[in-house]
Amino acid sequence: MQRIYLDHAATTPVRPEVVEAMIPYFTERFGNPSSIHSFGQEARAGVDEARDQVAALIGARSDEIVFTSGGTEADNYAIKGVFAASEQKGDHIITSVIEHHAVLETCKFLQKRGAEVTYLPVDRYGMVNPDDVRKAITPKTILVSIMHANNEVGTIQPIAEIAGITREKGIPFHTDAVQTVGHIPVNVNELGVDLLAVSAHKLNGPKGIGMLYVRKGTKIVSFMHGGEQERRRRASTENVPGIVGFAKAAELARAELVSEAARLTSLRARLIEGLLSGIDHSNLNGHPTQRLPNNVNVSMDFIEGESVIINLDLAGIAASTGSACSSADAEPSHVLLALGIPRERAHCSIRFSMGRETTRAEIDRVLEVLPPIVARLRAMSPLLK
Ligand SMILES: Cc1ncc(COP(=O)(O)O)c(C=O)c1O
Repeated sequence: MQRIYLDHAATTPVRPEVVEAMIPYFTERFGNPSSIHSFGQEARAGVDEARDQVAALIGARSDEIVFTSGGTEADNYAIKGVFAASEQKGDHIITSVIEHHAVLETCKFLQKRGAEVTYLPVDRYGMVNPDDVRKAITPKTILVSIMHANNEVGTIQPIAEIAGITREKGIPFHTDAVQTVGHIPVNVNELGVDLLAVSAHKLNGPKGIGMLYVRKGTKIVSFMHGGEQERRRRASTENVPGIVGFAKAAELARAELVSEAARLTSLRARLIEGLLSGIDHSNLNGHPTQRLPNNVNVSMDFIEGESVIINLDLAGIAASTGSACSSADAEPSHVLLALGIPRERAHCSIRFSMGRETTRAEIDRVLEVLPPIVARLRAMSPLLK
């Protein structure tokens, strides 16, 4: 059976070129980058070169990159690190209700330790209003953290506009760009952000490696204590093969960014049009245009999202009911509820997220397979009676 993977927002396949670039750093170039002998220096050279490459992907300077174990750690570091560095100034953080758990849970953790957190609402498309950010700022605000694009509904936030406000007020601005970097052009100077989180496994790189961009001059305290790696910003021996693989994935993504985004945007239009016209009582979730090129999130009334996922899987198609982390939860996604989508509708939402290997033929296969699945499930559905 042909297998079709449409869950790239959860993770992506590692490209063969990436694996190839990593292998020597497991074998002959296995040294510790902190060692002064030639083994160490070879590994150090790999890390240095990689840092230049990932910095280039986001228009940053190499010394503004701190490698982390992934997006979650980068978000934790940004928020906890700025909070700890701002004790004298205040304890107020502004974020949004649709952030990834990596941000929301970190904010909740800090709330228990004295932080005051404002969770901004979003409109029905999942968009934060920059005016709400301006209004929420108090003299005690020490950080604003708004994600670049949402992992479930794909809505892309007006980051540059929000950064204009935070900069005017002298407040550091963090964005979780895990779903955008490598997929749409991201430049830290054009966006005007001070901190930005990236994860390699979302851009055809390996799992367990990511980075936090920290603009020069941003006050942040490290929370990994130990050795002096990463200019004392993140102790622990570097994950050299992971870092090298991340850089290769970044280099490849950068070269294909514009053409891939255009190709996926056209596949996205085909899938949305096909789903909405082929399935009654279906709705698109998220913004119609300001959305990730690879994201399609639809609700199909009167059925359970999980049943659709299982039936699609039996037909060889992998999709998701929301973010991978929450798909085991019985509660509908906090993101869909925040968009004002009723609970029943949120329960029957499916996310298709495309990637580099996705073809038009695969999209057409989904459009052929899904309507009969929905019809069959609806015929059995107590919700329709
Ligand atoms: C928006 C967003 N932030 C953070 C993360 C966490 O990244 P990682 O899996 O590298 O820890 C994810 C992954 O699902 C994500 O989609």
